[in-house]
Amino acid sequence: MNVLAIVGSKRMGSYNLQVAQAAGELLKQRHPNVTFTILNWDDVPFMNEDSEHPEPPAIARVRQAVRNADGVWLFSPEYNHAIPGPLKNLLDWLSRPVSATEGPVIVGKPVALSGASIGMSGAEHAQEQLACMLNYLNVRVMNKPRLCIPHVGSQAKGGVLKLDASAPYLERQADAFVRFIEAAR
Ligand code: FNR
Repeated sequence: MNVLAIVGSKRMGSYNLQVAQAAGELLKQRHPNVTFTILNWDDVPFMNEDSEHPEPPAIARVRQAVRNADGVWLFSPEYNHAIPGPLKNLLDWLSRPVSATEGPVIVGKPVALSGASIGMSGAEHAQEQLACMLNYLNVRVMNKPRLCIPHVGSQAKGGVLKLDASAPYLERQADAFVRFIEAAR
């Protein structure tokens, strides 16, 4: 089973990236049959319908990664109570048909939602918007459990995350997502 992680923050020391890395470790320990990859999408251009065809190479690459995935796990902060712009842009690309014969690669994919933020919401607002957008696209959103990590700095020292209070919830979500993907097959 292939799980592809998409991190909604581009920041090098991103807490959401660190949560994704912790999720990968958990999956390795608890579900050795799962391959976990974090998507590199640094080179994705702004969506512009004028440049959809031919498919830009960066878009071909991220689409192939999503095609190969049995499930996609999003780890994202919220920016101003909303989906970070770059992540929305990536999802807009993934929402578009690939060609006259191939629909959007994200449609029907099992997707899990996690997020961490400095504030008290734990990125919940972004997750609500993500769920709304993804449900519209006929993506199979695992609506529950989701994981919101508020005040993420309180579980970090010097920018290094050491999940303590949130660790059991991440474990629970990892197990649930594996079951969710199996059920969707
Ligand atoms: C934020 N941050 C933030 N936090 C929050 O809890 N609610 C919010 O609405 C916002 N809004 C917001 C807007 C913008 C433009 C930035 C750059 C940041 C703070 C955010 O939670 C914090 O920077 C996290 O550390 C971002 O996640 P990563 O980069 O650590 O994964």
